Amino acid sequence: MITGKTKLLGLIGDPVKHTLSPYMHNAAFESLNLDYVYVPFHVKKNELKAAIKGASSLEIKGLNVTIPHKTEVMKYLDVLDGTAELIGAVNTIKFDEKIKGYNTDGLGAVRAIEETSTVRGKKIVILGAGGASRAISFQIILSGAGRVIIANRTLEKGFLLKKNLVEKLDADVEAIDIGEKLNDELKDADILINTTPIGMYPNIHQKPLVTSEMMHENLIVNDIIYNPLHTGILREAIKANAKTVTGVKMLIYQGIESFKIWTGVEPSVDVFNEALVKVLK
Ligand code: ATR
Repeated sequence: MITGKTKLLGLIGDPVKHTLSPYMHNAAFESLNLDYVYVPFHVKKNELKAAIKGASSLEIKGLNVTIPHKTEVMKYLDVLDGTAELIGAVNTIKFDEKIKGYNTDGLGAVRAIEETSTVRGKKIVILGAGGASRAISFQIILSGAGRVIIANRTLEKGFLLKKNLVEKLDADVEAIDIGEKLNDELKDADILINTTPIGMYPNIHQKPLVTSEMMHENLIVNDIIYNPLHTGILREAIKANAKTVTGVKMLIYQGIESFKIWTGVEPSVDVFNEALVKVLK
């Protein structure tokens, strides 16, 4: 029951109608008997500053931040966690004496993959060079990746991300386009991550950038898309007998990391998972 003592958490974005986060967080509060509630708030671009100020005034304890506010919101925070600063985007805010920004997107992907294998020392190919690729590539290098290949349709965008990664983390990174070179790089890759929107609902039959002939049995293939659960690239991975990590796992673990930041408690993966399975059915 919501009472005068209930602590408020939420999500700001535009749109927020289809978010799955409330299902996960509210299920975990209930199972852990924590007196919190998680509510989505629709915030337009020109209202972002007012929303952060208002949230602070209302003593909201924390927020998730989604499209289109992840970069812009940094202007209105007092401090940034080191990873969020490196990535240049925030998906989690904690309101304390100071308003602090974090980014749990990359950690969500790394924890999802690490259910299957460590990323430490591994050769990782990342498809795409947008915001999601940026969060994941920074975190995966911070988590000890051996070599990272950014494969992107627009080579300049891949180069720019590579330049950032090399400058800030002195990492072993290569940027290539989607062509023959990608084929070669995949031969001895350990992990492949799709961060492009190819195959996302409703375009579920869109041809993936990597097909089964380009994969091998020891490859781990992760798509960050969770709708559908088994995207084109994951279906190709199954054909190639490679291991798969669905996008739902990243969604779960980024949520778990945010939950920990706000409450100090590690929630159960199963509770998050069950909440999602119920709603995705
Ligand atoms: P996000 O913030 O979710 O990462 P984004 O910043 O729009 O989204 O980035 C999407 C990425 O997917 C981009 O790297 C984009 O490639 P370009 O840099 O060439 O635009 C990539 N992408 C999107 N549609 C694609 C397609 N049909 N084929 C290849 N790459 C595609």
